[in-house]
Order: sequence, then structure tokens, then C-alpha cells
Amino acid sequence: MSTILRRLPPSEATGLRTGARHSLAEVYRPADLVVLGLGVMIGAGIFSIAGEQAATTAGPGVILSFMIAGIACLLACLCYAELSSTMPTSGSAYTFTYVIFGEVWAWIIGWALILELQFAAAVVARAWAAITVGAVEHFGVRVPAEDLVQDVLVFVILVLLTGIVALGARVGLRALWIMVSAKLLAIGAVIVVGLTHIDVANFGDFYVPPKTLDAAPATVLEIFVGESQAFGWFGVFAAASAIAFAYIGFDIVATSAEETANAPRAVPKGMIRSLVVATVLYLAVALVMVGMVSYTKISVEAPLASAFRAVGVDWMVHVIDAGAVLGLTTVILVLIVGQTRVLFSMARDGLIPRGLATVSRRYHTPTRVTLVIGLVAIVLAEFVPVLTMQQLVVIGTLFAFAFVAAGVIVMRRRMPHLERGFRVPLSPLLPALSLVATLWLMVNLRVLTWAWFALWMAFGLLVYLGYGRRHSLLARPSAPARQPHGRHRR
Ligand code: ALA
Repeated sequence: MSTILRRLPPSEATGLRTGARHSLAEVYRPADLVVLGLGVMIGAGIFSIAGEQAATTAGPGVILSFMIAGIACLLACLCYAELSSTMPTSGSAYTFTYVIFGEVWAWIIGWALILELQFAAAVVARAWAAITVGAVEHFGVRVPAEDLVQDVLVFVILVLLTGIVALGARVGLRALWIMVSAKLLAIGAVIVVGLTHIDVANFGDFYVPPKTLDAAPATVLEIFVGESQAFGWFGVFAAASAIAFAYIGFDIVATSAEETANAPRAVPKGMIRSLVVATVLYLAVALVMVGMVSYTKISVEAPLASAFRAVGVDWMVHVIDAGAVLGLTTVILVLIVGQTRVLFSMARDGLIPRGLATVSRRYHTPTRVTLVIGLVAIVLAEFVPVLTMQQLVVIGTLFAFAFVAAGVIVMRRRMPHLERGFRVPLSPLLPALSLVATLWLMVNLRVLTWAWFALWMAFGLLVYLGYGRRHSLLARPSAPARQPHGRHRR
């Protein structure tokens, strides 16, 4: 087999909890996984992007966009559930791909996951800083030197959360339960209070006629039509792809598998339950948002707040602010956790320097890689216009979804006897539908996003050819990690 297509033996991924390579402490119970999922999903997507898409791209049809993205993510979630029940490892899609498709593809997925997790942490940290400043201003306090204050806030939140992740999952977990409960209360208030102010006239017929824009085609799909559009069906689909950002996170639950008791059963349940709860909440929030005011009156900067102001419920602005500040905090926290686990797995396999797989004796976490991730997130959030990169995060995520869906089909054929704690029903039909739905969302992303994505992946491939291919543990069959050895030496 060509070197770059060498595959990780399934036993290296299926037996991690019992095998010598395992070194992370077991901390999560099944309910923690639901909190982890809700912690990372409910954030900028529902608090900001939903309203922005309603105002600019889909109108009241944003509810349909949420449904479309939700169905695509539910299909992807079932596929993740099956693979993570078979291979409960920190690497998630990266490790699944390593076993099923081989090393170079695994690297590519690992590289796409970096785009998802590392960039998302920076994007959400930026959004968090803006929302926090806005929350203070909503009390009538004028924040001087706003940009500088936001820069400082980005730094402070990332240092704080990186520290929490480095000190151990337990510390973060307690904080996570409290913050997730608080944000769910805020979302609950949005839904309950919002429902009492709905005017059905605002829904129209959920379909705003297409408006041709005086610009070059924006999404890949629009290239085939030859024009750029807002609203209409193109708008609904384009919004669905942007809104996929809100669903990002159920997949991250899979990266906690190595630290979960009875992972083959607990991880699929945690993932599916958190996604279902998030989907129901999102649909309800989207419904009240476009039901309270005409989509033309939703402000792109503070969508939910503007909707409540329009119906005269000004005090809700503070509830929304509190929910968003806490909500985005937990998103960043879990994104950092997920990113550490993926990079830790890549380092353990030798595809990035193995020193990054060092686990602290004291805290039982991969502290070194956590610090690197925190530092990179700070640099990105401070010096790169990350708020324009939401779609790049989405394409990285969807790319991994596509491999996971294909992976279920291939693995059922090639390794039918592996023990599966969860099986996707109606396979190969549902995994095939997942693949189609994912690709559909991808072609509804912007051409520019695709161009940046291609550049990022090409750069990643060069890194692999220059480093990973030669340092991979599979290039050294007698490497230490493949023999029993001390718990914390890597
Ligand atoms: N789903 C997360 C959010 O919406 C990334 O912020």
C-alpha cells in the first residue's frame, strides 16, 4: 500500500480505553455529554447569525433554513454516532478516517477540523467581546475606546478559558453545567415571552420573492444560474449553509469519547440528544424572531434584541445579553477542549510533533497542546478579521461530515463484524442521504469560501508531505506507542 494511504489498524482505535495508548482520565457521565453538546452548539449561530440571515438572505424563510440545516446535521449526527460507538477515540472524524480511508485522508480531515475548531474559537471569542461591550452599553454606559476594550476582552477570555481547559476537565465541567443552565433559561425566556408577541402577518408565506443582486455570483450554486440572488429559494438554501454554524458542536461531543464511561453507548446518546434539543430550541427562537417583527426591521448587529425592542419589551434585551455572554463563553470553552483532543490524537500518531501529546501528570490533560491552541486562538482573534470567516469554519466542518457519512458505508462493507454500540438505521440509505445533504450545503457556500478552503487544504497537504508522512508512527512499526509503556510518557 502506498505510504500515504496506510491505514491505522482498527484495534488501535477500538481498544483505546483498554489499551496502552490511552492516557486521559475518565471524567464524563452520559448527562455531561448533553451539556457539552448544548454548551458548544448554542451560541453565535442562534444569537447573531440567525437574525443576520433573516434580514439579508432568507426573510421569514429562515425557519425553513433552520429545518434544512437541522435535517442535514441530524443525518450527519447519526453517522458520527455509529463511528464513535465503534471507535471511541479523542480524534473523532480524524481517527475514523485514518482507520477507514488511510493516512493522507486522515491528515486532510484533521486539517479541516483545525479549521473548524481553532478558527471557530477565534470567531466566537471576537463575537463574545462585541456582545459583552454591547451588553454594558445596553445599561446606558458608554464604553470608551471600544475597539481596544474588545481586544483586551478577547485576550482575557481566551487566557481564562485556556487555563480552565489546561487545569482539567472537571473544573471546566462544573462551570459548564452552570453556564449552560443559565443560557437555556435565557433561551427559554426568549421563546416564552416572544410567543406572546407574535403577529402572524410577519410570517408572510415564508417565501420572499428572489431579488437579483448587482454582483458576481456569490455561492457556488449561483454560478450555474449566472447571477447573485438574495431571498427566494436560493436565499433559503444559502442561509441554511450559513446557519449550519449554529449546529456545529454535536460532532465535538465525539472528541470526548476517550474520557467517557461506557462511551460506545453514552457518546451516541449524548450527541443525538443534544442535537435534538438544540434543533427544537433553534426552530422556536427563529419562529418568534421573525414572528415578532417584519424581517425588514431586524437589525443585523443585535437581531434578537431589536425584535424585542420593536414590540416594546425592552427588558428582554438584558436577558438576551446575559444568555449570549454566557452562551458564547461555553462555546469557546468546549471548542478549545475539542481542538486539544483532536491535535492530541494527531500528535499521538506522530503526524504533528509527538511532544504535543504529552499528558500532564498532575492534571491528566494534554496541557502542552492546550497552551499552543490558546495562543494560536489569541493571535487569530487579535490579528485576523475572523468575523468574516464563519463560512470557512462551516466548510471545514461539512468536509468532515462528508467523510464520516462515506465512512459508515465503507466500514459496514469492509469491517462488518466490528462491535457497534449504535447503528445508523436504514444504512446505506441514510448515510448516502447524509452525504448528499452535506454536499448540497457545501455548494450553497460562497465561492470565496471555497477558494480559501482550497488554499488552506493545499497548505495542509504540503505540511503533511514535509512532516507527517515521515514522522508518522506507522512509518516506524516498532515505535513506542505501539507497545505497552508508561502512562504519561509520550
Ligand atoms: N454552534 C456554535 C455557535 O453557534 C459554534 O456559536
